Amino acid sequence: MDLYEYQARDLFESYGVPVLAGIVADTPEEVKAAAEKLGGVVVVKAQVKTGGRGKAGGVKVAKNPDEAYEAAKAILGLDIKGHVVQRVMVAAGARIAEEYYFSVLLDRANRSYLSLCSVEGGMEIEQLAVEKPEALARVEVDPLRGIDKEKALEIAREANFPERLLEPVADVFVKLYEVYKGEDATLVEVNPLVLTEEGDVIALDGKVTLDDNASEIRHPDHEALADKATEDPLEAKAKAAGLNYVKLDGQVGIIGNGAGLVMSTLDVVAYAGESHGGVKPANFLDIGGGANAQVMASGLDVILGDEQVKSVFVNVFGGITSCVAVAEGIVKALEILGDSATKPLVVRLDGNQVDEGRAILAEANHPLVTLAATMDEGADKAAELANA
Ligand SMILES: Nc1ncnc2c1ncn2[C@@H]1O[C@H](COP(=O)(O)OP(=O)(O)OP(=O)(O)O)[C@@H](O)[C@H]1O
Ligand SMILES: [Mg+2]
Repeated sequence: MDLYEYQARDLFESYGVPVLAGIVADTPEEVKAAAEKLGGVVVVKAQVKTGGRGKAGGVKVAKNPDEAYEAAKAILGLDIKGHVVQRVMVAAGARIAEEYYFSVLLDRANRSYLSLCSVEGGMEIEQLAVEKPEALARVEVDPLRGIDKEKALEIAREANFPERLLEPVADVFVKLYEVYKGEDATLVEVNPLVLTEEGDVIALDGKVTLDDNASEIRHPDHEALADKATEDPLEAKAKAAGLNYVKLDGQVGIIGNGAGLVMSTLDVVAYAGESHGGVKPANFLDIGGGANAQVMASGLDVILGDEQVKSVFVNVFGGITSCVAVAEGIVKALEILGDSATKPLVVRLDGNQVDEGRAILAEANHPLVTLAATMDEGADKAAELANA
């Protein structure tokens, strides 16, 4: 989960990372009031989960509350790379002497952590990495040791900070690493980290990505950071039911067990769709190992709730869960859903107790259900029905 800048700011503050005051606001009136409260120069900043806000006109300096009001009018509603600004943060204005860059992230390829740092911050880091790679220090961080003061000083030196700044920036790096570690983040990025005219080192912007795998048990408080308003309602419903669901653009709903099987089902359906008007998979949905009636009903409920879906392909391989349980699950799920199940279902079962499972579905003889003998046949039938 990516956080908004204001959420990152709050986290930073709670870990003792130096930040400036910031007030979140949804209307120009609220922005004006916030600017009055903060006093002096403020910066009105679009809160969207994408980079390059400044360039897109989403970050504006305001010398007084009236200017802040005007800035808010210009920024609220602005479309930044497909993200419409619904909220801004009014931040106290800093008197910036210099802008730096710092990040620590999960380096999957090297199974390690990596810190990137530069005394040339402010601009887009991707651009700096291409145009002036020598100005961007890349320091591997041992996950077992993390960024202690010594490591932080090494990073600062590698990035060519002048001697007098080594200590103050290293202290901030250590705190930022504490955020990274303490919150189970996969990214903590500050661009820019600034040196003010007063000589303070402050994080003026923050990007944090939290590891969703750590939310449920290690960080129940992270749930509150999720952005319910912009979340897809079907994805939210699936998440609440504990399903692994991703909405896609097509017309054939997919249910399978095991991520690998579901991925290949998507491929096979997309391929079959080429001969049936170009229909495509409508989603990824992995119901996992225990495909009982309730899980099947929740899965079908989510998929049938997608208006774009025209047919559903249930592709299950009975392993630990036998095809009998899956077949009974489908029959019961259709009972539970009753009249809300209106779209044709193609079911392909294989594996443990396949004959018994198929017999149960044949016996039930539900008008919406078609049995398929193989995965290819099922995909083709589902694509054909979606195109009908
Ligand atoms: N509180 C502030 N006071 C003074 N100047 C600021 C403040 N916040 C941002 N700025 C200036 O605006 C620039 C852009 O701000 P910021 O880094 O937050 O947005 P961005 O880089 O455009 O967005 P993103 O990081 O999402 O690409 C900064 O480099 C800095 O010069
Ligand atoms: Mg920035």
